[in-house]
Formats: sequence, structure tokens, C-alpha cells
Amino acid sequence: MLLHRELAAPGVKQVFPMRPQVCIFPSAVRASYHRHLCDHRKLPFTTMAHVFCVANQKGGVGKTTTSVNLAAALHQAGKRTLLVDLDPQGNATMGSGIDKRTLQHSVYHLLVGLAGLEAVRVASPPGGYDILPANRDLAGAEIELVNLERREKRLREALTACADDYDFVLVDCPPSLSLLTLNGLCAAHGVIIPMQCEYYALEGLSDLVNSIKKVHANLNRDLKIIGLLRVMFDPRITLQQQVSAQLEGHFGDKVFNAVVPRNVRLAEAPSHGVPGVVFDRASRGAHAYLAFAEELIERVGTL
Ligand SMILES: Nc1ncnc2c1ncn2[C@@H]1O[C@H](COP(=O)(O)OP(=O)(O)OP(=O)(O)O)[C@@H](O)[C@H]1O
Ligand SMILES: [Mg+2]
Repeated sequence: MLLHRELAAPGVKQVFPMRPQVCIFPSAVRASYHRHLCDHRKLPFTTMAHVFCVANQKGGVGKTTTSVNLAAALHQAGKRTLLVDLDPQGNATMGSGIDKRTLQHSVYHLLVGLAGLEAVRVASPPGGYDILPANRDLAGAEIELVNLERREKRLREALTACADDYDFVLVDCPPSLSLLTLNGLCAAHGVIIPMQCEYYALEGLSDLVNSIKKVHANLNRDLKIIGLLRVMFDPRITLQQQVSAQLEGHFGDKVFNAVVPRNVRLAEAPSHGVPGVVFDRASRGAHAYLAFAEELIERVGTL
């Protein structure tokens, strides 16, 4: 596993010393991971939007909460932002104040070529950003895309039309390493990985890094891992503290400084159709996402 003695930084206490033989990062994955992460200061964007996937194939780790709140926080920081809901669950759509049940056109129509960008794009009134919304129709795209040409590049091609309209494009990925996620990874310059500081989260990270490595090698040479974002963090839980410290020890400044706490206001906001940073700007969760947006802007350089 990641916390194996040979992977951890010197002086970092092992959380799971009883399983020293288990390593979730084969050496090739570790090498690739560092290559991607170490390059983040040389991001090759200057004029076009920074396109970032928010991805983790594990379910319920805070991808959508991160996507929606980061989009709203970037808007509040004065950045033109587009959020792409690439999940048939449509949670980012609902969390942005758009009713997924009444959509005429969605990302599904865009991906399979039934509608253009202008027909799909809507504004999120509470969030201040634009969104390409989704609903359960998108589940059908998985099957239909298989028979289409350039099936993994459909989103990338669609976004080309609006790259100059935005400073940031965020893609909220579904909890799988599916063709939809592949479309997200092919369209992106970088990946933001929200993760909880738990043992199983670290195991899943290996699969994700492997997938990113394959996409980088075969489909998208621009793709990089931008960083790991610790979410739903509860400092009272010793294991979370330990895993967090080990992540910092091993991945250094590739772990974002911002840490998103477990915060009930973030969990309540979606039921109001409002991003948490708007719903309760004074909450600890909102502060964390606002700080994360500032850190991300700094990390990619001045626009
Ligand atoms: N920082 C937080 N504090 C409290 N609750 C949170 C926080 N982040 C997310 N949640 C809640 O956890 C649940 C899962 O979050 P979210 O939907 O963002 O995860 P996800 O990774 O997008 O899930 P899925 O894999 O199903 O798409 C939601 O109910 C959300 O409101
Ligand atoms: Mg989600």
C-alpha cells in the first residue's frame, strides 16, 4: 500500500506497520505519479481555459461537492467558469440550481451529436457560472458512444468551441473509470483528486493514477495530476490525521494546503439547489473551498 515503509518520507510514522508487504503503488505507477505531479508548475496553458477533471472512481468522496463549490468560488474570485456535469446522477446540475428533470438538452445530446453547445449550456443563477447539465439520459451515452467515431474525444471536441469563453472549465466525473470519465480525462489539462483520509481511499488512488497514466500515454499528452484535495476531514479522528500527515510526507506540495472539513452546511446546500459557498459563506466548509479556489488560481499561475 501507499504507506509502505519504502514509499513514505523519512521520519513519517507508519499508519499500517502490520502490512509492510502490501503496496498499492507499483513502481511504474509511483514514477508516473510523480512525473505528472512534479510538472504542475509548467502547465502549458496561456490563452485557453484551464480544463480540470474532478475525478475519483470511488463513490461519495466529494467530487460533486468539490466541483460545484469550486466553480462558485472561482466565479466569486472573478474567473469565468464552466461546470460540466458528466455524471448521469445529475447531482452537479441539481446542486447548481438547475432541475435535471426538465432539461431539453443535456451533455448526453452534446456527446452523441444531437445538440450543439449553445443548446445545452445554461447559467447557474445561484452559482454565477455556466453549466452543461446532465440527467439520467447520459447513462445511454455510454452505450451509444461505443459505436461512434472518436468516442473518447467527444467532450474535448465539444469544448473546443467555447475554450476562449472561460478561464476555468471543471468536469464533474462519475464514480467509475468509464467511457464518460475517459471523455473527461481526454478533454482535460489536469485532474483534481478529492479524497478522504482513509485506508480504502488510498487503494483507489492507485487505480486512478493507473488510468491517468494510460490516458496520458495514449490519448492526451497534456494530462497531469494537479493535486490531491483532502475532503470531509475530521481532525478528531486519529486515523484521518495520520493518513493526512503521510500524504503530506509522501506527496509534499502536491497535496493542496486547503483542507475541506466535514461540514453540515456543505451537505445541506444541495437540497436548496445552491452551492455551499453561496448557501452559507461564513461556514467552515465555504471558507475551505474559497481558500482552495485561491490556491488553485495561484497554482496554475496568473491568468
Ligand atoms: N465536506 C463535506 N462535509 C459534509 N458532507 C459532505 C462534504 N462533502 C460532501 N459531503 C456529502 O457527502 C455526500 C457525497 O458527496 P458528493 O456527492 O460530493 O460525492 P461524489 O464523489 O460526487 O459522489 P458520487 O461518486 O456518487 O458522484 C453528499 O451527501 C454530500 O453532501
Ligand atoms: Mg458526484
